[in-house]
Amino acid sequence: MTSPYGLRGRAAIVTGGTRGIGHTVARQLADAGALVCVTARDTEEVRHTAAELGGIGLAGSVADPGHLEEVVDLVLREFGRIDIVVNNAATNQPYGPLMDVDPDAWRTAFTVNVEAPLRLVRGAWQSWMRDHGGTVVNVCTEGAGHVGPHVGAYGTTKAALLHLTQQLAGELAPKVRVNSVSPGLVRTEMARFVWEPGEEQIAAGLPLGRIGEPEDVARAVVWLASDAAEWVTGADLLVDGGTRVRAAGTATGYAVHERLRADYHLPGA
Ligand SMILES: NC(=O)c1ccc[n+]([C@@H]2O[C@H](COP(=O)([O-])OP(=O)(O)OC[C@H]3O[C@@H](n4cnc5c(N)ncnc54)[C@H](OP(=O)(O)O)[C@@H]3O)[C@@H](O)[C@H]2O)c1
Repeated sequence: MTSPYGLRGRAAIVTGGTRGIGHTVARQLADAGALVCVTARDTEEVRHTAAELGGIGLAGSVADPGHLEEVVDLVLREFGRIDIVVNNAATNQPYGPLMDVDPDAWRTAFTVNVEAPLRLVRGAWQSWMRDHGGTVVNVCTEGAGHVGPHVGAYGTTKAALLHLTQQLAGELAPKVRVNSVSPGLVRTEMARFVWEPGEEQIAAGLPLGRIGEPEDVARAVVWLASDAAEWVTGADLLVDGGTRVRAAGTATGYAVHERLRADYHLPGA
């Protein structure tokens, strides 16, 4: 059971809330009593998820500024408040060495992963949070802390999101807390091409002995969004099964990078 953490009656927006980590975040927030609005591009999945959670939803891409404005308007109209924004939707493309990637795809990655979170926070701030307070949680990645093969565009956008998190935390305090969660490898569609072909090998190299589940990350997001974290802002909470500290263990190499490097059958590559 998800702890209520003082979330009952709070209104939350979860981008990319129909699958994977975002879906589990939305479900845990709803279980804790929050009013939830999910977004994603697939209209049917948005409709289905909103109904499942007893919440609302709006289909569209976070890359579209008009969609983000509509989300803010919808939540204020339906719930009368915006207490929590979870910027979860992202793209991990384009893959490949940076000298080879299409500059337009690179720009799209920044639009989805960095610009959209800023626009959504700005909308929530101007319409509600500036006067009433709130919390923001941005979903970054453990990989933003180092470089890796074929994921330079993704890593660069997530490093920018990490910086944006800290900048906004300073600018929006004390009314609004802004934090991030940085997951390691999690069992979702986005990362399937990494974990599915070699899960046991990857798990064996992680100090906590398994890859992540969406629930592992969602619990951290919900905690940061809640009053239990009322004196936490500008923090990045690593939820990675010990990925960052693996070098102190017995495993050699890094199976995630080995997979990315060896199998250049990357989706969309
Ligand atoms: N899985 C991992 O190993 C891992 C590791 C580190 C960080 N993360 C981060 O965790 C977050 C969630 O990833 P995930 O693994 O849960 O991915 P996922 O299972 O592929 O789910 C992504 C969700 O975002 C939506 N989405 C994608 N692009 C969108 C767009 N342009 N506009 C609106 N919605 C969009 C998808 O629905 P539609 O396709 O219908 O739009 C879906 O609901 C991301 O920020 C990701 O970078 C994941």
